[in-house]
Amino acid sequence: MLRRFVFLATAIVCLISAGLVAYEMSRVGVHQGYAPEQPIAFSHKLHAGDSRIQCLYCHFGARTSRHAGIPPVNVCMNCHGMLTKQSVDIEKLKELVERRQPAQWIKVHNLPDFVYFNHSQHVISGVACQTCHGPVETMARVRQQAPLTMGWCIQCHRSRQVSDPHTPAANLDCGKCHY
Ligand code: HEC
Ligand code: HEC
Ligand code: HEC
Ligand code: HEC
Ligand code: HEC
Repeated sequence: MLRRFVFLATAIVCLISAGLVAYEMSRVGVHQGYAPEQPIAFSHKLHAGDSRIQCLYCHFGARTSRHAGIPPVNVCMNCHGMLTKQSVDIEKLKELVERRQPAQWIKVHNLPDFVYFNHSQHVISGVACQTCHGPVETMARVRQQAPLTMGWCIQCHRSRQVSDPHTPAANLDCGKCHY
């Protein structure tokens, strides 16, 4: 009798946790701390940190368009075509270039489709990449730093408006962020 009860209780707890996990997974953008392994071990610490390559050198879309974008492998070859250092990951890179194939990077940040977010609107207003993405130049592997929830967006928009009441209301209008 007791064993049966324990079994049932365990089963119920398992079902509830599975449900919660599925619910969390279904909330697309809300994966704070997500840091997937990438097909090539590209290190921002090495490139943007130690070598001080500007974010916009690679993510040039961020200034003018909605997407910051990931640079095509040709951009990597601007340097790796000349650098002599070899490694397994640089071999992988060169193989892709030879076969004219793009790298299959795994997206770290994912907002749901019903949200409109535009990089240029933020970069032009002087919001630093790190305000939203954290200290990427110290990361050997990119990790989602911000929660990417609606509350997170609104909190910043509200604080900006409070600090400068003359700015047009960017901000809390549902239609600006939702289609
Ligand atoms: C030499 C090129 C290069 C430079 C410089 C660079 N990045 Fe990247 N970035 C990449 C590549 C390639 C990826 C995709 C692989 C990965 O996620 O590590 C990426 C991915 C990212 C992502 C994750 C995108 C996603 O999938 O959600 C963020 C955020 C990011 N970079 C921000 C920055 C910031 C901020 C800087 C400057 C501090 C910077 N990057 C500098 C090449 C670069
Ligand atoms: C106001 C916050 C904010 C700022 C500032 C910001 N980002 Fe982002 N970034 C985001 C969000 C939110 C996403 C997810 C967008 C999506 O899923 O549609 C994202 C996605 C990305 C991606 C993934 C590819 C893409 O274009 O969606 C890269 C790369 C990236 N950001 C790099 C940068 C760089 C480099 C800068 C500075 C030049 C920057 N971001 C500034 C919030 C920001
Ligand atoms: C502006 C120059 C520049 C660009 C552009 C660049 N890299 Fe690098 N990369 C370097 C330097 C410098 C190093 C340090 C290695 C060295 O000492 O030669 C490095 C190192 C690496 C390493 C580590 C090698 C190891 O030790 O395992 C990988 C992997 C790599 N880069 C991949 C990429 C990829 C992928 C891209 C394109 C998204 C890229 N790089 C773009 C300059 C660059
Ligand atoms: C500054 C941008 C922004 C504004 C303004 C905004 N939202 Fe959102 N909203 C988001 C983001 C980002 C998400 C997705 C992340 C999440 O679910 O928290 C979201 C998610 C939602 C969701 C889905 C919630 C869920 O749990 O799946 C609803 C419903 C919603 N918003 C309604 C509204 C309404 C109504 C307004 C106006 C009062 C509004 N939003 C204004 C950015 C915004
Ligand atoms: C760290 C602060 C910060 C965060 C976080 C942030 N924003 Fe913004 N956002 C700004 C600033 C600053 C502006 C420019 C304000 C202006 O032009 O008046 C802006 C402008 C916008 C605009 C243009 C509004 C207009 O009036 O044209 C949209 C849309 C927007 N943000 C959506 C988002 C969404 C969606 C998120 C979350 C995923 C987000 N923002 C997160 C600071 C932020």
